[in-house]
Amino acid sequence: MHLPDFKEARTRDIRPYKRVEFKEDDAVKNKYQGKTFYLKTYGCQMNEHDSENIEALLTFLGFSKVNSYMDADLVLLNTCSIRENAHNKAFGMLGRLKHLKQEKKDLIVGMCGCMAQESSVVDSILKDYKWVNFVFGTHNMYQLPTIIDKAIEENKQQIEVFSREGDLIEGLPVLRVNDYKAYVNIIYGCNKFCTYCIVPYTRGRERSRLKEDVLEEVQKLVNDGYKEVTLLGQNVNAYGKDLYDDYTMANLLEDVAKMGIPRIRFTTSHPWDFTDEMIDVIAQYPNIMPSVHLPVQSGSSRILKLMGRRYTKESYLELFHKIKDKIPGVAISTDIIVGFPGETEEDFLETLDLVRECQYDNAFTFIFSKREGTPACRLADPVPLKEKEERLQRLNEVVNHYFLENNKKLVGKQLEVLVEGISDKKNMYYGYSATNKLINFSSQRDLTPGDLVVVTIEDAKTWSLDGAAVE
Ligand code: SAH
Ligand code: SF4
Ligand code: F3S
Repeated sequence: MHLPDFKEARTRDIRPYKRVEFKEDDAVKNKYQGKTFYLKTYGCQMNEHDSENIEALLTFLGFSKVNSYMDADLVLLNTCSIRENAHNKAFGMLGRLKHLKQEKKDLIVGMCGCMAQESSVVDSILKDYKWVNFVFGTHNMYQLPTIIDKAIEENKQQIEVFSREGDLIEGLPVLRVNDYKAYVNIIYGCNKFCTYCIVPYTRGRERSRLKEDVLEEVQKLVNDGYKEVTLLGQNVNAYGKDLYDDYTMANLLEDVAKMGIPRIRFTTSHPWDFTDEMIDVIAQYPNIMPSVHLPVQSGSSRILKLMGRRYTKESYLELFHKIKDKIPGVAISTDIIVGFPGETEEDFLETLDLVRECQYDNAFTFIFSKREGTPACRLADPVPLKEKEERLQRLNEVVNHYFLENNKKLVGKQLEVLVEGISDKKNMYYGYSATNKLINFSSQRDLTPGDLVVVTIEDAKTWSLDGAAVE
């Protein structure tokens, strides 16, 4: 049993780590053949990708996947801590599982992911959710087969959460959701400690994977015919800093681009580490998609300082325009928080002003959510929730306006689309353009997910475009 200690999780020291190759434990291979699992994933792409590893580990144990938790012998929640509603969703699901377990005594229930790293969550599991069979943390994923086997064999609650990152595990099995687009981790953790954010505590300090390991994984994807790869990290721009003196995100992007995979994406970029070299490489290689997610969080330099974001409104705008000027046709998206503690109407107007200048192609907007243990949690927060909700609504009206305006500019243009499937609308395919626009389109030819087709855009909506494939 390892219980999380949030105090330790919050320590900022950089610890040495080893690269360790994952070894399968043959003793448990296929031990649970005939049993089924249901895996529910909350949160970001990092969690989605972790779930691809988790599915492979469960499959190794012999479990097979079902699509409803009602039909499963084992239910696992891969959780997210980023905002209160993510928390509430996971606890709501636990409530439903409690009922199910009363009818189905043998049901095995587990929790993993970012919430498992929080001492308060694990305390409440120990106290009020004694029926939960196991909990493991983000740094313990590789132990999944042993933890589940022990929980079942010993019929005793297992809690395995390391508070801080340990070794960097390579070679975990993976069952990818798609056979044409794939996530590839390049860096784990975060050292930025933005004052509102819980991620550095749940994911540990920054650890880059060796460039050889990343490139080998991409090469395999190329060999398997994948069309798109998304390089993942909480701050991908910090790639390599902990490992190399002279190999950066710009070098990695270039090396990946040279491997010839048709589409390369990367997320997320913190404005702080976005270098000129990166911009040049993105501009130079046509297979690096001209699509940059550049979270701004606020347009007020005063609030940005309180957030610990390390840039001002002015320096953000300078970077924004440099990216716009140097990368032809680039689309920039962002994340914005309204109602950070102490945000005044003037601060908020600065955000609206910045949004009008940047005219983002996409934006994820949130109301500040207090995360226990973060510095922002202790700040005075006099603005009532109702006012914050109004700010969010006003912000959304402005960002939505520009989504539509940007989309309208694409009507009549021909865009390359990576086909994802058939959309709800009858006879319409859907997929994403290079700049990550959702496109619904008709086609005379039969298409399969993973095809790259050129689509003429006929109509613009706020969140999507309609068109027809060029035959
Ligand atoms: N590493 C990424 C962010 C990952 S979290 C980055 O820095 O770009 C995704 C988004 O969630 C953040 O950009 C932020 O806008 C939002 N977020 C994080 N913590 C939050 C909180 N406490 N309340 C509201 N939104 C938050
Ligand atoms: Fe959170 Fe900031 Fe790190 Fe992003 S950069 S994960 S917002 S601490
Ligand atoms: Fe959530 Fe953890 Fe991702 S807190 S956003 S799942 S890193």
